[in-house]
Amino acid sequence: MNRDARIRTGVIVFLSVLSLMLLAACERHDPDEKLARALLEYQEGKYDDEPATGELKEGVREIKLQAFQFFWSPDLIIVNKGEKIRLIISTNDVPHGFEIEGYNIPGYDIATKIEKDHPVTIEFTADESGVWEFICTVYCGAGHGDMKGIFVIR
Ligand code: CUA
Repeated sequence: MNRDARIRTGVIVFLSVLSLMLLAACERHDPDEKLARALLEYQEGKYDDEPATGELKEGVREIKLQAFQFFWSPDLIIVNKGEKIRLIISTNDVPHGFEIEGYNIPGYDIATKIEKDHPVTIEFTADESGVWEFICTVYCGAGHGDMKGIFVIR
């Protein structure tokens, strides 16, 4: 490599590192939250007539969610704002993970591995309305990035 090439490479590396640092510095939850609210406004009324997902059990909305390579069942979850939610997530093949992007569930670690025969129960109050996206957080194979669902809090 001649001197110019080295300088060019150096500049490219420097700029790449700088942009990664800037990305990391951004509050990543803010845009997700804004998007979720904006989607709910934009699609106003779209989910109003749909039945809520799962069953009410003593005041708690219990929803069974299943992870497969590479999809969620169901991949559309609708709940009412203010409801207490109990998500029971199970895996049918390899380990998967769960996160509602931009939505903070107190006490739940999004790195939690959900393994076969060991369902994970997550409880929270659905207090932030929006059309959220839920994803898989544990690499589970080639279609990992396709594991997406919609979580509506209306
Ligand atoms: Cu399922 Cu990654």
